[in-house]
Order: sequence, then C-alpha cells, then structure tokens
Amino acid sequence: LLNKEPNLPLKNKKVVITAGGTKERIDPVRYITNDSSGKMGYSLAIAARNLGADVCLISASKTLQTPYGVSLIPVETAQQMHHAVDVEFDTASIVIMSAAVSDYRPEQVLNEKIKKNEQEMILKLVKNKDILATLGSQKKHQFLIGFAAETTNVEEYAKGKLVKKKADMIVANDVSKPHAGFNKDTNEVTIFMVDEEPVELSVNSKQAIAEEILAIALTKMTK
Ligand code: CTP
Ligand code: CA
Repeated sequence: LLNKEPNLPLKNKKVVITAGGTKERIDPVRYITNDSSGKMGYSLAIAARNLGADVCLISASKTLQTPYGVSLIPVETAQQMHHAVDVEFDTASIVIMSAAVSDYRPEQVLNEKIKKNEQEMILKLVKNKDILATLGSQKKHQFLIGFAAETTNVEEYAKGKLVKKKADMIVANDVSKPHAGFNKDTNEVTIFMVDEEPVELSVNSKQAIAEEILAIALTKMTK
C-alpha cells in the first residue's frame, strides 16, 4: 500500500520556521533588534525541505537568500511575526521558533525622525507577547521546537523555558562559547525534551546541527 518514501518522512507535512532578529522601529531611521543572523533558521528550512516538507519560512532577515523550494513570508517586527505564525499554525505539523524575537518594542513608533537636544533621552519599551508560549498554550497535534540563547545557567534556563512555554523541545545555545550562537556558521547545542535526558550535539556546521535537530524531533514525533 501507500508506503511513505523512506527518505522523505516529512512529505505532505508543513513545517513552519521563524528566523532572524525582529526589528522594532523607534522612528524612520532607527530601530532596536537582536544579534541574530537567521542562519540557524535558514539551515533548518533547508533540512526540512530535504526531508520532503512543505516549508514556510517566516523571516526577519533581509540578507540571506531564500532556499530553493521554500516559501518565504518576510516580516520585520515581533507583532508581524506573531500574526504570520498564527495564520500558519493550524495546518502546521512542526513549528520551529528559531527567531530572536524582541522581548520589548518602543511604546510609540514615530513617523518623523527624532531630533537630538541637550537633554538625555528616555525610551519607553513595552513587552511583546511571547509567540512560543502562546503556541504552547494552543497546540493540538503540532510539534513545537523553541530555542534558548543563554550566556549562563544553560540547563536551568532551557528546562524552565521547555516547561513554561509547553514546548516539545528546546534547543539551547551557550552563546558565550566560541563556536556557538549568533552570526556564526557553526553551532554547539544541547537539546532538552520532556522526560528525556539532555542530548548534546558537539560543534558542527549549522546545516549539520539542523539535520540532527530534525532527526531527533522525528523520533519523538512517531513515539
Ligand atoms: N520567543 C518568542 N516570543 C518572544 C520571545 C521569545 O516566541 N516574544 C521564543 C524564541 O523564538 C525562542 C524561545 O522563545 O524559541 C526562547 O527565547 P529566549 O529569548 O531565549 O527566551 P525568553 O523567554 O525571551 O527569555 P529571556 O530572553 O529573558 O532569556
Ligand atoms: Ca528573549
């Protein structure tokens, strides 16, 4: 009967991936952002595509080339990213939040450039909603993967995020390590899952790490 192609375990499945650092505008010439290139998300998109998935890449990166066969939804702010993820969520099999989402945004986005004066300047920031935590509270069949960028207490913080956001997997980066994290072509991560021992993936290209992450997710999804 309809045997699944062994090398395409994600055929006819939609994988939604967020990537890049969101930008939160202050005025027409300024914004605040996170130190993220989007490379990990784009590597995951290629890996998921190669496993046969229909990949929807919701990206705040303006510099990386869209991988062949992947559908791109460009976004700038955390709110735009949240909306785009919401639209895709119901029909997604896997959602991977590899974006560095701004935790805060300026309370006001000004239409005119702010001019300097002699005083100090105070910028009021308001909190953005947590996309991953919102998805975690709404999820049905979806397998939810989050990231955790840490500089200290990696295990404690990553496990906390796994539970609090109701994710199925948290991929933790110690971004203080030389081969891990933002703007690099390599990564070194530890994977945390509910009721599983942590899995350490040693230094490798982001592409190889992406393939390992999806391979582990697939074993958990079929359990
Ligand atoms: N995330 C999200 N929405 C936000 C902030 C974060 O979906 N508003 C997601 C990220 O994409 C990532 C995970 O949550 O998958 C963890 O992000 P991280 O910044 O490491 O954790 P926070 O919960 O924001 O906590 P903190 O920055 O204080 O460590
Ligand atoms: Ca954060």
